[in-house]
Amino acid sequence: MCLHTMEVNGEQDELMLHVGDDLFADTFSDDSVYTFVGQELKISQVFSANLGVAAPVWDAALHLCRYFEENSLSFEGKRIIELGAGTGIVGILAARLGAYVTLTDLPLAVPQLQSNLSANMPSFGWPSVTPSVLPLSWGQDQHSFPSDWDLVLGADIVYLAETYPLLMDTLVHLCQGGAMVYLSSKMRGEHGTPGFYRDTLPQRFHVELVHCDPTQNINIYRAVLRGKQ
Ligand SMILES: C[S@@+](CC[C@H](N)C(=O)[O-])C[C@H]1O[C@@H](n2cnc3c(N)ncnc32)[C@H](O)[C@@H]1O
Repeated sequence: MCLHTMEVNGEQDELMLHVGDDLFADTFSDDSVYTFVGQELKISQVFSANLGVAAPVWDAALHLCRYFEENSLSFEGKRIIELGAGTGIVGILAARLGAYVTLTDLPLAVPQLQSNLSANMPSFGWPSVTPSVLPLSWGQDQHSFPSDWDLVLGADIVYLAETYPLLMDTLVHLCQGGAMVYLSSKMRGEHGTPGFYRDTLPQRFHVELVHCDPTQNINIYRAVLRGKQ
């Protein structure tokens, strides 16, 4: 059953429980290839103490990419911003499919994003313009960004309760022009993720659950700022 609940399982949850620990004493990288919507994406994950949770491709990101594939979402010409992009896999897929993409994350994740973006430039160039990679710390930097996006994307960015008000401020600013938000989340009860979708997000957004995988405990929500539907 897909409600806003769930328990902890899997290796990625183990990593999430160590947020803030010096988890990666040594730096090492892993190069993987993922294919969605016929696009082969080469993604490097640089595991280091510095990058922490920004290093891996999280399962919620893979679910979001698969959701786009299964639902044949159209990206051509769309203006898209991704929050907490990590490795960038979601936004890079959208850019490969013709969107105008801005990838954002905390400043420390920007080099990894930039390097994955460069590694995935199609041989004939990007179908739209070269995507931008910019630092955006929620609650601090959103006013440097416009409010007229078509889509705002986020994968596994709802996991630290103290950031929820900051994330809300950021989403509200970015969605003033009527953007549709897609958020894919591992539903970690111990991190307050279910409560964010049940109580916090609906205060300002009309929210729909559009995908639910009870086995992996991952939900995808679509949201539009109230009054902009
Ligand atoms: C669990 S990772 C998910 C990464 C990627 N979206 C994925 O699913 O593979 C959470 C991401 O949110 C970013 N993040 C956390 N707090 C943030 C904040 N206050 N402002 C901006 N980004 C933040 C982290 O740097 C990290 O990249």
